[in-house]
Amino acid sequence: MSSRVAIVTGAGAGLGRAYALDLARAGLRLVVNDRDGTAAARVAGECHEIGVEAESDESAVGALGVAGELVGRTLERFGRVDALVCNAGVVRDRTVHRLTDMDVQEVLSVHLGGVIDQVRAVWPHFRRQRYGRVVLVSSAAGLFGSVGQANYAAAKAAVVGLGRTLAAEGRSYDIAANVVAPVAQTDMAMTALGDAFAGLSADDVAPLVTYLCSEGCMVSGELFAAGGGRVTRIGWAESAGVRLPHGFTAADIAAEIDTIRDMSGCAFPADVAEHLKPLLRQKQPQ
Ligand SMILES: NC(=O)c1ccc[n+]([C@@H]2O[C@H](COP(=O)([O-])OP(=O)(O)OC[C@H]3O[C@@H](n4cnc5c(N)ncnc54)[C@H](O)[C@@H]3O)[C@@H](O)[C@H]2O)c1
Repeated sequence: MSSRVAIVTGAGAGLGRAYALDLARAGLRLVVNDRDGTAAARVAGECHEIGVEAESDESAVGALGVAGELVGRTLERFGRVDALVCNAGVVRDRTVHRLTDMDVQEVLSVHLGGVIDQVRAVWPHFRRQRYGRVVLVSSAAGLFGSVGQANYAAAKAAVVGLGRTLAAEGRSYDIAANVVAPVAQTDMAMTALGDAFAGLSADDVAPLVTYLCSEGCMVSGELFAAGGGRVTRIGWAESAGVRLPHGFTAADIAAEIDTIRDMSGCAFPADVAEHLKPLLRQKQPQ
């Protein structure tokens, strides 16, 4: 079989460039997308130097139709697509009361609408070949909240739900979908946080992405964080909570709020069914 083909969006600089180069070192052929065509071509050249075929693509992902054309060009050039890394991104940071319509629209279209479009564009090919790898990019801002990043955080949290759903839909087709929340000093990090991430290299995130794009990847529907050599899994935990009788009131919630919030003995439901199981199993007390 000819070597696998990966598309990395926003790969002209920063983390995307590191992902593209590490995937190239692993032997994948690359489509290096970036709205900055010069940067994309430069990184494609670096992939050639590593010894793999690579094509640059200067489309700006997010706008309607772009993802379909990007995947179409990939298939024309390489005849296949095996992995998609939805990395491209911008920030338009402002506290929520100052956000403009444009700030919201632009960030949601690149980080969420465009990502769904890219996934929809590759999915039929992944299903047909019964193989695919998707890596979506979240952020600590979306997972934990971050002042001045409401638009960005909303999109970055949303891709976690997208990733888990893709994992469920792709399971029987050997399509794995996972989410990465990276930390590295890049132009975007400089814009948002100054030199807070100084010394943290994008190269120390890339191997995680390469693993998640590999045939040997054993996980799907999971969320990982990586930065400065620390790689962790982040889970969605649910407390044991309480079971209140029908007709309970806000006063009952107030009385039980500490128990509801107590995360000791929490569960990590793998899917909707696991979350619903205790609810459907126990009859509500009268
Ligand atoms: N740097 C971090 O610590 C950090 C933390 C959390 C999440 N992230 C996420 O990682 C991803 C990469 O971030 P980065 O820090 O490398 O940023 P960066 O600004 O250094 O690089 C982003 C690249 O994406 C390109 N790009 C932007 N919009 C595009 C579009 N519409 N179409 C195609 N290309 C586009 C830019 O030209 C640039 O080359 C983003 O999704 C970002 O939200 C980064």
